[in-house]
Amino acid sequence: MKVYLVTGGAGFIGSNYIKYMLKNYKDIKIIILDKLTYAGNLGTIKDEIKDPRVEFIKGDIKNKDLVNNIFYRYNIDYVVNFAAESHVDRSIENPQVFLKTNVLGTQNLLDVAKSHWIIGEGRDGYPIYKEKVKYLQVSTDEVYGSLSKDYDRAKELVLDDQELKNIVKDRVELKTYGKRFFTEDTPLDPRSPYSASKASADMIVMAYAETYKMPVNITRCSNNYGPFHFPEKLIPLMIKKILGGDKLPLYGDGTNVRDWLYVKDHVKAIDIVLNKGSIGEIYNIGGFNEEMNINIVKLIIDSISKIVKEEVDYQEILNTNLEKINYDLITFVKDRLGHDHRYAINPTKIATELGWYPETNFKAGIERTIRWYLDNQDWVKEIISGDYCEYYQEIYEK
Ligand SMILES: NC(=O)c1ccc[n+]([C@@H]2O[C@H](COP(=O)([O-])OP(=O)(O)OC[C@H]3O[C@@H](n4cnc5c(N)ncnc54)[C@H](O)[C@@H]3O)[C@@H](O)[C@H]2O)c1
Repeated sequence: MKVYLVTGGAGFIGSNYIKYMLKNYKDIKIIILDKLTYAGNLGTIKDEIKDPRVEFIKGDIKNKDLVNNIFYRYNIDYVVNFAAESHVDRSIENPQVFLKTNVLGTQNLLDVAKSHWIIGEGRDGYPIYKEKVKYLQVSTDEVYGSLSKDYDRAKELVLDDQELKNIVKDRVELKTYGKRFFTEDTPLDPRSPYSASKASADMIVMAYAETYKMPVNITRCSNNYGPFHFPEKLIPLMIKKILGGDKLPLYGDGTNVRDWLYVKDHVKAIDIVLNKGSIGEIYNIGGFNEEMNINIVKLIIDSISKIVKEEVDYQEILNTNLEKINYDLITFVKDRLGHDHRYAINPTKIATELGWYPETNFKAGIERTIRWYLDNQDWVKEIISGDYCEYYQEIYEK
């Protein structure tokens, strides 16, 4: 039986990963380590923490004694590090906590894992590790910096690899706004305190791989969307504001481009990299699905208005009139400082080497996400009000 230490498992992607793993593997043990910051919600994993395969530990990845104790107590085989401060706007307001958690926290996890996994020393002086252990760092495409936007409208992406094109063709719309893409060889060029902290973490992971031959992988994914996303990020924020009848603030002129991937496709990729990824390798994960922020917001407006018109029960949730859900809600606000213009991931390496492909068509994924938020308004209220903290006290501190 494999034992996973999943950090940040009460956050957006970590919780989706835990749900995916419990559904797909019977014989596993998952230890969740999460500090439960504003972004971590125990309510998100309330069913999972009752599962006998799961242990939840509230704590900080920077806490060496705690992480050491976890390794002593549970014979950890895999570390999957989702724990991070993850919001760019917050990193502009307060960079230091990003460096502490994202860089020093990562280094602490690496150090403790290394000390528990070493079983000897080779003739070449490098450590020998227990078999089949691995540290996986969940990183982001933002470490590569920003690309230019060459086209005003999305063009069909022409893939060199015909086999890949045939496979993804019916699943995702192959769209791009530019000629260049991030590959795993693109030099790191982070431009926000958030991306600089993630790039620094990646470099320390690779330093452990080189210096101590530690078995690691790094995954660098584009923007995720889907269930359990904290409503400060673009897509859930817009859904929340539309339902509340509020104005929709959009940075600059709304033309910034991101590549979007449904979170369930991302967590499947992480599982594949952990099982099949070559040691020491970095894998980009992306959706071949670039879109401008303004078009995303328009798509959300259109989708909500269509769903709510067709399924009248949802109208109870609205804090506004149906007719008012239109593009007039969009309000352009002063641009984010240092706002990166375009991110575009080329995930050909993971697709061709490991057989992972983005599966979820964007329009279908957005509609699924909106329906999830419509059906889970209690979760949204709970996470915004911080009621899950009381939930934690009730479950654990009593
Ligand atoms: N959301 C995206 O679109 C995206 C895209 C690519 C990569 N990533 C990366 O994926 C990871 C997860 O992102 P997310 O969107 O789920 O983030 P999130 O903010 O929703 O969740 C982060 C989780 O980490 C926990 N945490 C924070 N500091 C901690 C600490 N010091 N010790 C223990 N736990 C701590 C929080 O309580 C929370 O549960 C991050 O590393 C992020 O950089 C995110």
